[in-house]
Amino acid sequence: MSRTYRIAVVGGDGTGPEVAREAVKVLQATAAKHAFKLELQDYDFGGERYLRTGEVLPANAADELRKFDAILLGAIGHPDVKPGILEKGILLKLRFDLDQYINLRPVKLYPGVECPLKDKGPEHIDYVVVRENTGDLYSGAGGFNMRGSPHEVAIQTSVYSRHQVDRCLRYAFDLARRRGKKKTLALCGKTNVLTYVYDLWERAFHEMGAKDYPDIKREYYHVDATCMWMVKNPEWFDVIVTGNMFGDIITDLGAITQGGMGIAAGGNINPEGVSMFEPIGGSAPKYTGKNVINPLAAICAGGMMMKHLGEERAAEAIEKAVMDVTAGKLKSLAAGRMGYGTTEVGDLVAERV
Ligand code: IPM
Ligand code: MN
Repeated sequence: MSRTYRIAVVGGDGTGPEVAREAVKVLQATAAKHAFKLELQDYDFGGERYLRTGEVLPANAADELRKFDAILLGAIGHPDVKPGILEKGILLKLRFDLDQYINLRPVKLYPGVECPLKDKGPEHIDYVVVRENTGDLYSGAGGFNMRGSPHEVAIQTSVYSRHQVDRCLRYAFDLARRRGKKKTLALCGKTNVLTYVYDLWERAFHEMGAKDYPDIKREYYHVDATCMWMVKNPEWFDVIVTGNMFGDIITDLGAITQGGMGIAAGGNINPEGVSMFEPIGGSAPKYTGKNVINPLAAICAGGMMMKHLGEERAAEAIEKAVMDVTAGKLKSLAAGRMGYGTTEVGDLVAERV
């Protein structure tokens, strides 16, 4: 009996639809080999739709998407729309409405990929950042006082509940156990300055670790030091857990150490609900329609999605195919310098799964 997965595909803006298409191509090739079926449905959420209709996201979008097994997202962000409108109105709104409280971002250097870190290779860079995805400075708490006057005050507050912190930590501890590598979970915080929010994180971290995860080693790093060690000694890390804002920042640093936005993928995960997988880069408007953007990040996001859906072997096949292509085919991961076009890179991976 064949397993069927219903997937919502939100291509989004700029090069988003192009990379999502290649991810779908690879997923279809994988499905054929691994005895599952995909039922895909496209959604046109994004800048074009907003400019045409004035609506950022239909009111029922989250309810509609909840009916699927997972969501594959291309990219959100349009040059003709003021920054923030689409990002907050589509990407963040879906993350919040679907309560995707984990942003899972693997940092893994594949063979053949040029690494900007001196003397570091694939054996040194293989860890996962668990970024909390609902709270912190992203909570929306804050506002202006006397806006536009010389005395204007702007406030934006980091907000975390114990519940939010606990569920994120639990996911991270479980992941460190499941990976079974160094069995180490590093909390990335700022307990020397953010003495409320990261005090809460640190207490929760040690309480949960001592009680339920004695087999997992606990480490703590301030966020600034984390950045330093991610460059100097990335091999120290196994799983890093952190709040939303620090997680946003350190995962861009992590991405560049694994070859950049052409390869970095992430998952917005609700372990009890519907999750959404995306390349972590933007919509790259200047490359739109030129068939030069690198689709590997979207393809890897598709692989993460299949792993999340329980298709471990399919996910491994996709990762292995991507590694074959980075090791043996591509000249570079950068848009326009791969030695192949977007669709050809999709073909190369698809014929290897
Ligand atoms: C990311 C992005 C988003 C974020 C933006 C586009 C809202 O930078 O997914 O990392 O800050 O989370
Ligand atoms: Mn980001």
